[in-house]
Amino acid sequence: MTNPVKETTAQRVERLKRAMNPWDGLEEIRRFAREGFQSIPPEWIGTYFRWWGVYTQGDGAGVTGGQGGVGRALQRFMVRIRIPNGMMTSRQLRAIADLTRQHANGIADLTVRQNIQLHWVSIESLPEVLDGLWQVGLNTTGACGDVARNVTGCPVAGVDADEIVDASPLVLEASKLLAGNAKFYNLPRKFKISITGCRVWCPYPEINDVGLTAITRVAGGKPEVGFSLRVAGGLSTEPYLGARLNAFVRWNQVLPVIQGIAELFRDSEVLREHRERARLKFLFLRHGWTADRFLGELQERIGFQLDPAVEEHPPDDVYRDHVGIHAQKQPGLSYVGAVALRGRITAEQMHSAADLAERFAGGELRATNMQNLLVVNVPTLQAEPLAKEFDAIGLKVGGSSFWRGTVACSGTEFCKLAITETKSFSRWLVEELEERLPGFDQHLKLHVTGCPNSCGQHWIADIGIEGKKIKVHDRMIDAYYFCVGGALGLHQATARPVGYRCAATEVPDALERLLGTYLSLREPGENLRQFFVRHSDFQLREFLAGEIVAAVARDLPDAARSFTESSLAASGGIGD
Ligand code: HEM
Ligand code: SF4
Repeated sequence: MTNPVKETTAQRVERLKRAMNPWDGLEEIRRFAREGFQSIPPEWIGTYFRWWGVYTQGDGAGVTGGQGGVGRALQRFMVRIRIPNGMMTSRQLRAIADLTRQHANGIADLTVRQNIQLHWVSIESLPEVLDGLWQVGLNTTGACGDVARNVTGCPVAGVDADEIVDASPLVLEASKLLAGNAKFYNLPRKFKISITGCRVWCPYPEINDVGLTAITRVAGGKPEVGFSLRVAGGLSTEPYLGARLNAFVRWNQVLPVIQGIAELFRDSEVLREHRERARLKFLFLRHGWTADRFLGELQERIGFQLDPAVEEHPPDDVYRDHVGIHAQKQPGLSYVGAVALRGRITAEQMHSAADLAERFAGGELRATNMQNLLVVNVPTLQAEPLAKEFDAIGLKVGGSSFWRGTVACSGTEFCKLAITETKSFSRWLVEELEERLPGFDQHLKLHVTGCPNSCGQHWIADIGIEGKKIKVHDRMIDAYYFCVGGALGLHQATARPVGYRCAATEVPDALERLLGTYLSLREPGENLRQFFVRHSDFQLREFLAGEIVAAVARDLPDAARSFTESSLAASGGIGD
């Protein structure tokens, strides 16, 4: 018999997963709701709930309020609603708004994987929330847990005037294949898929376990649209940009390929040994796998050979927030993109957005990877009036680069692993930067993440700041460490830790100095990303600090890992 005391975190989670498929446990959830929070056993709190997109919410203090690298949890839950390809109807958004109002303190967050997350949900409310979602065709199945997460795609699929192909049907098929499927309920850890037919790769295929991007080849004198395939991308404490395989994946091969990779991952025993090294990327980072080996294993698994890859042209500069008014491929129609600053949206705003989508268009909305909201199929003459209505409810169609480009993770407000508060901080930061650098003329991805886990994707931002605590006058206060120059596409690179760190209250000063230096030193036509590439870490640090300063070490990956490991142990071993 297993002795639970001697088990590692990984062994415990593996045992729990073998014991039960959490997707079979709906009646249990209903019972907990009847019998109250105290009736919930630890294996549900720490593990099984995740499969339902549910996990306990932090008490607001983050890790510093708890023990062993994990903060205290409230008797309340976060509930993540899965929205494949970010596509939803006004009816669905209105239902989310109603549930948010009734059960979730009136606010929700649009996330970087096109999901919508609720907070403050009680166990008594949970069945009503799940039922309410199902009634409008939404669910939370597999939004968290060791499973395939929400499959992301280009939020303007099907309407983008420049797309290669509308790949959203494949996104929906892949979701159907994996979410709730008992064959894939027990993966070593989370598994992220992105499929896009756009030319600019806006759902970031490079940071997914499976990233498929449309590409055209000429076969037998005729053009054929298929997909490039990248595998094993991921961020977290040890970022890895996906490896491109030498394969051209035909449309009808996409699902078998996804299934084959999911099976490879599922059956990889070596990845089940440590929770913190359980992602596909560790086959490459720790176990010597190469793209060729991966392709070989995949082909063996799926039972057929893939054609060799064709030359691709990764997008030159990946900034596509879809904000503003854009003509669609359908003549006379436009889509309108509105910013939910750092993803935060109220029940009232969701209600109004649903009403507006019906009043001005056919009620179709999309959630983006930059935490924003779009209405598609708007008659072009109606686009300006719709934009004005969005502005009036605080979801600006446009706004400064700071307003548009700021992304933030959950932070201490709701997350037990958080070191810093992120959402209010980000709003304040945007206000400060707008005042200090009016009319700043560059696109900017400014990502704020409350700990090294990088849920706010600071590794792929132009400027990514990672939450820390520092001691000032004997008090621990929020601080941020700066990473600069992250990019995807043609110039792909994870952001460089440049050795500068400051108190949260000083971040606007540092950014004003850095961006001000860019404005005064840039060469003709040089954009912000080129400027960052042209300067060394030493120089960027000097620009941030306003003087020459010694480099401060970022938490070493090992330290970050052990932090994560202890957090995982204390939280039941799943994290996100
Ligand atoms: C070991 C623990 C965790 C790790 C390594 C981790 C890592 C990540 C990463 C890398 C992303 C970026 C999404 C992407 O790949 O595109 C992400 C997304 C996210 N994470 Fe975490 N995370 C952890 C725990 C948590 C916790 C405790 C919370 C609670 C607030 C959280 C909240 C989120 C949210 C809201 C997103 C947005 C994306 C989505 O809808 O899936 N994460 N996580
Ligand atoms: S990065 Fe993730 S785990 Fe860390 S504070 Fe943000 S949401 Fe929490």
